[in-house]
Amino acid sequence: MAELTLRAVEKHFGAVQAVKAVDLDVADGEFVVLVGPSGCGKSTLLRMIAGLEEISSGDILLNGRSLNAVAPRDRDMAMVFQDYALYPHMTVAENLGFALKMRDLSASGIDRKVREVARILELDALLQRKPRALSGGQRQRVALGRALIRDPKVFLFDEPLSNLDAKLRVGMRMEIRKLQASLRTTSIYVTHDQIEAMTMADRIVVLKGGEVQQIGTPTEIYQRPVNSFVATFIGSPPMTLASAALSGDGDRITLDFGRGQSLAIPQERAHALKKAGGASAQVGLRAEHVELESGAQSRSEGDVFVSDVVLVEEHGADAIAVVRLGDHEVLARVRPGAVRAGDKARRFRVDTGAMHLFHAGTGQSVV
Ligand SMILES: Nc1ncnc2c1ncn2[C@@H]1O[C@H](COP(=O)(O)OP(=O)(O)O)[C@@H](O)[C@H]1O
Ligand SMILES: [Mg+2]
Repeated sequence: MAELTLRAVEKHFGAVQAVKAVDLDVADGEFVVLVGPSGCGKSTLLRMIAGLEEISSGDILLNGRSLNAVAPRDRDMAMVFQDYALYPHMTVAENLGFALKMRDLSASGIDRKVREVARILELDALLQRKPRALSGGQRQRVALGRALIRDPKVFLFDEPLSNLDAKLRVGMRMEIRKLQASLRTTSIYVTHDQIEAMTMADRIVVLKGGEVQQIGTPTEIYQRPVNSFVATFIGSPPMTLASAALSGDGDRITLDFGRGQSLAIPQERAHALKKAGGASAQVGLRAEHVELESGAQSRSEGDVFVSDVVLVEEHGADAIAVVRLGDHEVLARVRPGAVRAGDKARRFRVDTGAMHLFHAGTGQSVV
């Protein structure tokens, strides 16, 4: 059982504040992913949890007990690094067994555990090899095995898949998730890759500039981002932002995107925007909010705009078209082959109820 709690955790490196007042509760058995752009403080936060980095202020607790004065080796956490950190002169078996040598285990006891972990990670045939004779994926498996064999209270992962090629990465992220689901070991996983965060996490923590932007399940973060940073960081293809001026009043309020293009928005959303203040807004459109208008679907004109097709990316099952809305390029999800680059004056319908609206100044979501 391992519940991890962070209370107002901060880290300063001289004048640089790498982590700012982070509060986080990780439940027993939960898989939490810290995600954000490079330099946002993910590794620093993870290293403070591991005890490899001192905290400047705040508290880190495991099952309610402060870890602040507990040495890294006494925290019962196992960390997996991006660069694997294997001992080059040791075989796979020796690398796996090393952590157990410090414990009071017989040689045969260590051997049994090494074989058990090697079986789980399909390293049986590689036990006598040295790391240099392994592929990147195999090395990463050994690194995982070294964490696994210690049977720790908490797993900490720092971008463990970054050095693998795209296909291996997809395979390994599923394996890590399956392994964690069967062990139910509390895990904190750091990545800059929002797809890894979306696919692996029970809950995601989005960080920017050392500060937590939002904590939630992948669906919550995707569907209800609190600000335009989270909105554009999470999701693939990324959400596009288009600035628009509010005009009209009473029953019909429109968002004007420039070049004579505008969309009418539902009344309650218009009121929320007006209440939030400002004469303009950032409109966040995901590709699935913009679809090709087929005559039969046409209801009102207020949610349709006309654009040439700038570019099309075919994805097999669907295609993403780049189109122009006022001064902005936005993405539309269409059926494969439905449009071509260079098509003139195609009609696109926007889901104006589902599209996101952000305050032009603060970037905060306006519901
Ligand atoms: N030992 C250190 N000394 C000074 N600054 C550091 C040190 N480690 C990290 N930083 C700074 O702290 C910030 C966060 O770094 P880091 O936690 O490594 O980010 P991430 O893992 O999200 O890429 C960065 O601005 C980085 O330059
Ligand atoms: Mg890092």
